[in-house]
Amino acid sequence: MKNEEKNIDEIISFAKEKGFVFQSSEIYGGLAGVYDFGPLGVELLNNIKKDWWKANVQKKMNYFGLDSAMFKDPRVWDASGHTSGFSDPMAECKDCNSRIRVDKELENIGIDADEKMSEKEINELFFANIGKIKCKKCGGSNFSEAKNFNLLVKSNLGDFTSKGDKPVYLPGEACQGIYLNYKNVVDSMHPKIPFGIAQIGKAFRNEISPRNFLFRTREFEQADTQFFVRPEENKEPYEKIKKERWQWYLDLGLSVKNLLWSQHKNLVFYASDAWDIEYNFPTYGFDEMEGIHDRTDYDLSQHSKFSGVDLSFNDNGEKFIPWVLETSMGMGRVFLAVLSEAYDKEKIDDEERRVLRLLSKLAPVKVAILPLVKKDGLKEEAYKIYEELSEKYNCVFSDTATVGKRYRKQDEIGTPFCVTYDYESKEDNSVTVRERDSMKQERVKIGNLGDYLNKLI
Ligand code: GAP
Repeated sequence: MKNEEKNIDEIISFAKEKGFVFQSSEIYGGLAGVYDFGPLGVELLNNIKKDWWKANVQKKMNYFGLDSAMFKDPRVWDASGHTSGFSDPMAECKDCNSRIRVDKELENIGIDADEKMSEKEINELFFANIGKIKCKKCGGSNFSEAKNFNLLVKSNLGDFTSKGDKPVYLPGEACQGIYLNYKNVVDSMHPKIPFGIAQIGKAFRNEISPRNFLFRTREFEQADTQFFVRPEENKEPYEKIKKERWQWYLDLGLSVKNLLWSQHKNLVFYASDAWDIEYNFPTYGFDEMEGIHDRTDYDLSQHSKFSGVDLSFNDNGEKFIPWVLETSMGMGRVFLAVLSEAYDKEKIDDEERRVLRLLSKLAPVKVAILPLVKKDGLKEEAYKIYEELSEKYNCVFSDTATVGKRYRKQDEIGTPFCVTYDYESKEDNSVTVRERDSMKQERVKIGNLGDYLNKLI
């Protein structure tokens, strides 16, 4: 199936039915813009993260991993510009008090607008088109002026570090933890410039209108790399990083026709150049999955200024503040892209087969071990295979329903291989290995099974 033929509502209900994604606090009616990853979802999520970590830390000589705390000194968000400049334009319906995000509403009616415009610019566009924008709740067009609404989420953690009574915010973007630890990494790891720091961390935003399932949520994870280069030596590495990030998505199984580049017209306060990699989400269409930003020396200069600590890099006596090239990917959006790309349905003998065509490295379950029947010792023998294989892979053991039904169940959750132990297995010490996509079956000696699967997974 092409993505254009897929329906996002069907994928959302599939994600719930099969234990991939649940609405947060569902038994209390659900918390808007917050989602939980279920038993299979967390496996898929972890596999995406593992792949990202491998590509961005373990396979790169000059990149260092990090896991910084979420709570930070409140002054961090002043230095970063978030307390003053991190906002979306919001207007209120004067009739029913519900709120809209004005830049998105303008975009929906085909007007080029975004959150980086000034209040004046956005209000001019808003009031020139006001009749075309309807309140989702009451259907009216009686709106207040758009005002910038700050997206930072406050906590009530005691603030004993800074003067005054500033709140301790939850991170508005995960990457600030990298800038705060830049000096620690330099002092402990003694990298040569250029070098990178990579992290997967949570971010929280008070989104006015969380929407589109995992696409725009209030709590999400970002996988970031920050590459520190000598001042103005940014162009060549920026192009190289862009190429690598594009390739990573192809290696994740996303097809090239569902990906595109888009350059930012209006830049956020910290960036001198910015590109997005967009994905063609079912029903929603193309939208941002990852941002690649040339942040100049903005962040380290600001943190030097606000903290009073010199963050220059000393390269054999030559001191300078490095420039930063950032890649920032929303984990939830990539998860949704991977799930959407893999979701497929096909007709087989008048029956519909639902299959999740995930790459083996991403599949939540790698191997299902199925005794043909429970009796005559087949179950016990099959269980021995399960015990052995699950030392290495996430496996399931299933002995209920017909083997055909069990195959279909594994197809739906993307399990690439099913291993069936049948009556002949006792005689020939072999099992049947069935591959998910081709449904081809092959007889493999039990003694060779580990090596056989190793080569394929
Ligand atoms: N440090 C740079 C930064 O935060 P961003 O473009 O605001 O840049 C980077 O965010 C990525 O984080 C986006 O490309 C998107 O994938 C993800 N993201 C941003 N806001 C999100 C939200 N409300 N829900 C889910 N993902 C989001």
